[in-house]
Amino acid sequence: NEKFVIAIDGPAGAGKSTIAKEISEKLSIEYIDTGAMYRALTLKAINNNIDPNNEKAIINLMNYTEIDFKNNHIFLDGKNVDKLIRENIVNNNVSYVAKIKEVREGMVKLQQKLAETKSVIMDGRDIGTVVFPKADYKFFLTASVEERAKRRYLELVNKGEKNITYDRIKNEIESRDQIDSTREVSPLRKSPDAYSIDTTSKTISQCVEEIISIIEGR
Ligand code: C5P
Repeated sequence: NEKFVIAIDGPAGAGKSTIAKEISEKLSIEYIDTGAMYRALTLKAINNNIDPNNEKAIINLMNYTEIDFKNNHIFLDGKNVDKLIRENIVNNNVSYVAKIKEVREGMVKLQQKLAETKSVIMDGRDIGTVVFPKADYKFFLTASVEERAKRRYLELVNKGEKNITYDRIKNEIESRDQIDSTREVSPLRKSPDAYSIDTTSKTISQCVEEIISIIEGR
């Protein structure tokens, strides 16, 4: 059995993590959510009152931060932060942390190491372009901004977040996409050899089936 890497990239709310998780279960390989790593560092900055735009302070913070993945759970300095990293305050600050060159270098190294000894499906913004430019399979998931905002809005409402409106979430998603795709270091971009899927009017299982059939059909 050969070791292989599946890269899934795309903007916020395109369905990457839900789809990647299902595929990882179907193929019995590990799922690695790289956004969770940037989120964990952002959470630590917020908890320490460090401005996400203060590059020096963030880089310094990263040097005494431990980020780990164990059985699909994310640990920040030994503590499970699965829930905390999904709060809207993290959504709205993570892109500033993630555009720092030194932060990306550290995270990319960690991501490459996680796939050294096993097959993985990894999702993020730069997996097919920078982390694994030679990934065996590359997918780029998109959806209309309205659909992505709707999904994120419902997710937050279901979690009991108050004081949010659809319009605000849509603005926040647009601004995150803007920062992610215009930053200097590894911007969100479709790798030319990635297979695109527009998930706007597809169900999760349709997308999963489409990806599995491509992987198995090759
Ligand atoms: O995928 P998710 O929405 O959890 O990612 C959160 C943020 O982390 C993104 O908006 C982006 O700023 C950053 N990110 C990144 N590169 C990745 C994964 C996430 O810059 N590979």
